Amino acid sequence: MRALVYHGPMSKAWEEVPQPALEADTDAIVRVDAVTICGTDLHILKGDVPAVTDGRILGHEAVGTVEEVGPGVKNVRPGAKVLVSCITACGACRFCREGRYGQCLGGGGWILGHKIDGTQAEYVRVPFADTSTYPAPPGVSDEELLMLADILPTGYEVGVLNGKVSPGDVVAVVGAGPIGLSAIMGSRLFSPAHIVAIDKADTRLEAAKQFGADVTVNNDREDPTSVVASLTEGLGADVAIEAVGVPATFELAATLIRPGGRVANIGVHGEPATLHLEDLWIRDVTITTGLVDTFSTPTLLKLTSARQVDAQRFVTHHFALDEFMDAYDVFARAGETGALKVVVTRS
Ligand SMILES: NC(=O)c1ccc[n+]([C@@H]2O[C@H](COP(=O)([O-])OP(=O)(O)OC[C@H]3O[C@@H](n4cnc5c(N)ncnc54)[C@H](O)[C@@H]3O)[C@@H](O)[C@H]2O)c1
Ligand SMILES: [Zn+2]
Ligand SMILES: [Zn+2]
Repeated sequence: MRALVYHGPMSKAWEEVPQPALEADTDAIVRVDAVTICGTDLHILKGDVPAVTDGRILGHEAVGTVEEVGPGVKNVRPGAKVLVSCITACGACRFCREGRYGQCLGGGGWILGHKIDGTQAEYVRVPFADTSTYPAPPGVSDEELLMLADILPTGYEVGVLNGKVSPGDVVAVVGAGPIGLSAIMGSRLFSPAHIVAIDKADTRLEAAKQFGADVTVNNDREDPTSVVASLTEGLGADVAIEAVGVPATFELAATLIRPGGRVANIGVHGEPATLHLEDLWIRDVTITTGLVDTFSTPTLLKLTSARQVDAQRFVTHHFALDEFMDAYDVFARAGETGALKVVVTRS
């Protein structure tokens, strides 16, 4: 089969590799029907995630058809259409029992396209298939479903729920890439008073309006703290969601927050950020961090089926599997191409 293989920083190829086979009783082999690329894959290609080594097939998001299951798989059957979640769950360890699947101690967590071969391939081996896949609900297309593999649960859990977005809140979202947009979409479910999207790219700010932000700030041209202050009688945002992953945006989120407010960090950080405790200690501020767990996937599936969440909105570009290198190119130049999520499908 063919797959997108990482060959060290800045190097990747769409190339012939051996087809995956069942390794454990609880594995499934899934034929990939639709797959996408994450901002985290770009971090990997920059060399920011050293656990990913030469020869690794990338990708942690897919929708596919089950080909084969091990004898220990109880619910997932060959022929079924499934969502392959970015987080694999053993289902039995202490953290899985708490729904904290991202921290799985039994061999799960974020492993696809990280510690084991991933989904950017014609076929993928999915460990713990019963607890790491979800059956496709009727009436939801492959590409809508694909948005639930990572970005929708990440924005919702690590941004909206960790930040405890509540009715009437002023929510500031720093970074309007797919993750920030997903946090904006998820925040809307809780009827905030205002959602302020902050980004340096005007294309992303335009997208933020489509996703439910009513105020946009290009922080290259305008000071987001004064915009947020003008909406909050000078107090600051009730919730600030960081969705970029660089020190400057974490520090900005911490300055935007009101006393008693909540900073929810989503970004993957590769270097230290300064925590200004000398300003924050007296302000009763809560700061949360998190790797997505995907415990919210069943909720998001219901919201997508019921058309309360428009997953389709994220999809900007389509490619065939053999065009995977082009898909990466368009996704990596999102500022110019306007790409949010690129969908690569089996033709
Ligand atoms: N915590 C998790 O479980 C989890 C899961 C998935 C992704 N992530 C991380 O979330 C982050 C966002 O992901 P994405 O796919 O949306 O990334 P992205 O690169 O597509 O979007 C980031 C956005 O931030 C903007 N930006 C960059 N620097 C800025 C600055 N100084 N001020 C304002 N805006 C700025 C960019 O213009 C871009 O629109 C990444 O760090 C990604 O790795 C975390
Ligand atoms: Zn991802
Ligand atoms: Zn576990």
